[in-house]
Amino acid sequence: MSDVIERILHTFDLRGDLAYGTEAVTQRQHALQSATLAAAEQADSSLVTAALLHDIGHILDAAELPQGIDTDLDDAHEERAYQWLLRHFGPAVADPVRLHVAAKRYLCTLDPGYAEKLSPTSFKSYLDQGGPMNPGERADFEAEPHFEDSLRLRRWDDLAKDPTMTTRTIAEFRSELEQALLS
Ligand SMILES: [Fe+2]
Repeated sequence: MSDVIERILHTFDLRGDLAYGTEAVTQRQHALQSATLAAAEQADSSLVTAALLHDIGHILDAAELPQGIDTDLDDAHEERAYQWLLRHFGPAVADPVRLHVAAKRYLCTLDPGYAEKLSPTSFKSYLDQGGPMNPGERADFEAEPHFEDSLRLRRWDDLAKDPTMTTRTIAEFRSELEQALLS
């Protein structure tokens, strides 16, 4: 197994039990549920990997980050994850992760019904992250090569908060991780 995949498994071993913000699931459950939903919709290995790792910025090297950052959903976790994912997996994985916060703003802007279904925590972070997109922001977002994938990822992210959902283990996503890894 590659060093990168070992490091991912180790990161979830070390910090996967941390809470996912104020939701009723852990970081590990949230990641596995996102990836399971992606796999159920026949997403390719890169997008399943993006779903699995979209919040790894919350737990990656958390020991070196200020205390409390793991439970703060408003920090710049997608940027931190983006740099790391781009280096190891390339843009098909890294771009949807980078865009998944903007995707929520995009969906809220275009679909009022989507905004109404967000959890209170998620709605608050949407406002903190800038609220509705203006037309220029929307055009920039739609010009991103992986913007459609980021919308799919966003919808799995929103659903991955079910404390009773059954999923595969992290290790059981190893083949998707290996296929998505840059050679
Ligand atoms: Fe998430």
